[in-house]
Amino acid sequence: MLVRLGFDSAALDAKRLTAFALGLSDLEIATREGEPVDETGAQRVAELLQRRLTGESVARIVGEREFYGLAFGLNAATLEPRPETEMLVDLGIAALPAGGRLLDLGTGTGAIAIAVLVNRPDVTAVATDLSVEALEAAGRNAARHGVAERLEFLQGSWFEPLTTSRFGGEVDPQARVRGPLLGEVPVKGPLTRPTADLSPKGRGEERFDLIVSNPPYITSAVVETLAPEVRDFDPRLALDAGPDGLTPYRIIAAEAARYLTPGGRVLVEIGYDQGAAVTALFVAAGFGDVAVHRDLAGLDRVISAHHIEGTTRTAQ
Ligand SMILES: C[S@@+](CC[C@H](N)C(=O)[O-])C[C@H]1O[C@@H](n2cnc3c(N)ncnc32)[C@H](O)[C@@H]1O
Repeated sequence: MLVRLGFDSAALDAKRLTAFALGLSDLEIATREGEPVDETGAQRVAELLQRRLTGESVARIVGEREFYGLAFGLNAATLEPRPETEMLVDLGIAALPAGGRLLDLGTGTGAIAIAVLVNRPDVTAVATDLSVEALEAAGRNAARHGVAERLEFLQGSWFEPLTTSRFGGEVDPQARVRGPLLGEVPVKGPLTRPTADLSPKGRGEERFDLIVSNPPYITSAVVETLAPEVRDFDPRLALDAGPDGLTPYRIIAAEAARYLTPGGRVLVEIGYDQGAAVTALFVAAGFGDVAVHRDLAGLDRVISAHHIEGTTRTAQ
C-alpha cells in the first residue's frame, strides 16, 4: 500500500513501523521474519501504517529522530531536527572558545545545543523556546545525553527571558525552566519549575561567546504549500516566520550584540533564498565578517556574523 501510494522509502518505513509496533529490534525484525503475529500485534501494525498513510513521518510515529548521531525524543510541539542543521552544529563546535558559553534561541528538541555540548564538554549553555512543551522534550533529551547539568532552559520569546523587564522589574521566576530539574522530570510527568533564580549571574548581565539559532524561516503563505508530512505534523510555531519569513532574523540581528562577549559570534540557519536579506540585516546592525555558508547541496544554509565591540549596534 505504501509503495502504491508512492512513498519512496516504503519498505524501510514498513519494517521500522512493524518493529516498533511489535517491540522488536532491527535485528529481531530481520531474523524473525515469517513468524506469525497475534491479532493484537497485527492490529497495532495496521494502525501505525494507517498513520503513515496520512502523511505522518516515521520519526513522529515512533517519537524520535536521529540528529548528529544522537536520538532526540519528539513531541507535538517540536520540529523534527533536520540533517541540514548539522552544519550549524559543526560551525558552532569550531567557533566556541575553551570554556565558552552558548545561547541557543528556539531550541525545540534541544538538538543544536545538546549536540554541541555532547561534543564540547568544556562548554555551558542556555536554550530558550516560546513553547513550554518543546522545552519539556528538550529537558528529557538533555538528561538522556548527559548534558542537563550544563544546559539551562528558559521559556519565552527569543532573548526576552534573559532580560530584566524594561520597566525595571524582575523577570517572572515562574517563567524559568532549568535543565537539571527538567532532567529529573519523569518522561510523562509535569514540568517542575524552580521559584528561585538559579542562574549564575543576575539576568540581563549574561554574555555569550556564541549565539546559535535555527528559527522559523518560512513565509506564512509558503507554509500552506509544504508537503503534508511537514505542514500537517511539524508545529506551526516552528515553521511560520511571518509575511516575509524574516521576522525572527530581524529580532536576532537587532538584539544579539547586547548578549555577546566582545568578538562573540552569531550563527543562524537560513532558507536557501534568504542569504542576501539576512546578510543585510546583520550588516545593518554593524556586525563584521558576515558570511554565507553553503551546505553540501550548494545551497545557502548558515549565516555567520562577528560582533565587533563599538561597531555593532543594538535596537533601543
Ligand atoms: C525551526 S524550529 C528549530 C528547532 C531546533 N532548534 C532545531 O533546529 O531542530 C524553530 C523553534 O523556534 C521556536 N520559536 C518560535 N517562535 C519563537 C519565539 N518567538 N521565541 C522563542 N522560540 C520560538 C519554535 O517553538 C521552534 O522550537
